[in-house]
Amino acid sequence: MFFSKIQKSLVSLCDYYKDYFSVGTALSRWTLFNKGIEQKLALKHFNEFVAENLTKPMFIYKDENTIDFTEADKYLKFCKKYNKKIRWHTLVWHAQMPKWIYYQDKECKELATKEMLEARIKKYIFAVMEHTKDYVSSYDVVNEPISDKTYKLRTEEDHSLWQKILGPDYVEKMFTWAHEANPNAELVINDYNIESTIGKREGMYNFVKEMLAKNVPISAVGLQMHISVNDPPVEQIEETINMFGELGLKVLVTEMDVSVYNFEDKERIEYTTELLEKQAQRYKEIFECFKRCAKKGYLTDVVLWGIMDNRSWKNDFPVPGRTDIPLLFDGKGKAKPSFYSITEE
Ligand code: XIL
Repeated sequence: MFFSKIQKSLVSLCDYYKDYFSVGTALSRWTLFNKGIEQKLALKHFNEFVAENLTKPMFIYKDENTIDFTEADKYLKFCKKYNKKIRWHTLVWHAQMPKWIYYQDKECKELATKEMLEARIKKYIFAVMEHTKDYVSSYDVVNEPISDKTYKLRTEEDHSLWQKILGPDYVEKMFTWAHEANPNAELVINDYNIESTIGKREGMYNFVKEMLAKNVPISAVGLQMHISVNDPPVEQIEETINMFGELGLKVLVTEMDVSVYNFEDKERIEYTTELLEKQAQRYKEIFECFKRCAKKGYLTDVVLWGIMDNRSWKNDFPVPGRTDIPLLFDGKGKAKPSFYSITEE
């Protein structure tokens, strides 16, 4: 049976945590444009939204002369209508950018010059910041800048052309322009596996420390937190949030989900009661940790990457054909043990 109505008796997740942090979720196009159960769950349980895809540059920066906010505006209006806090994801990334931006010619053969790419991205950052300033309070300025191999800034080998074309200080420039465009905005550097790979955490730590020493206007570190039921240990998550908090930066959990697999497990597992219970315990211990970090003033937002398991990006990724159940509501919109575990004393 499909749950056409949401469970009214459930406590609202964001109300439950209102004294600690805002609780957000990523809105897919589907959720935004269909008045179904997932939208109802979004409105009841979350007080902060981020667009799962439609505010990414490839959907807005159509060509050199076209910055098109038509779709993004629908998202902004929806959030505003329901009085939700709004995050913007993302200004700069190596993925989901329009390809033309890196090239001089339409055939995308010759790389753009430094001046060309700088002018294009600066124009984009100013346009987005100006257009959204009455709506958005928090921006991912640069997404996923740290390499999984070197733990330094990504290079062409890590599928990023930013450093190659603009040089190693490109991240600083993006933050400086975003700040110039809107001095009140929260500016976030966002990445994955910071809480799970110690080397990558060191890399990010040293990088942001250097940025702070240079007075680069960075406000927060975003931990995507695409984790699994098996790791990383909660102590390591807490240590990570504390490390950045002690540096004087805010910490946001920006894209949380808890896969029931290790990243590249090929074999499908059965979704047993025990497994759902294991996931529930995991969510519980991590939300307890979030509360402690929030009390210290370090953690301000916890954003999940979706609502219902059947719509999660983890279906088919990173293993094609493999489904996953990393979120708080099942494919029918019914609260899972994980939901109850984080909303019960
Ligand atoms: C993912 C979306 O969930 C997918 O729908 C899309 O096809 C690819 O991007 N890190 C990020 C997010 O910063 O933007 C990604 O979102 C997930 C990983």
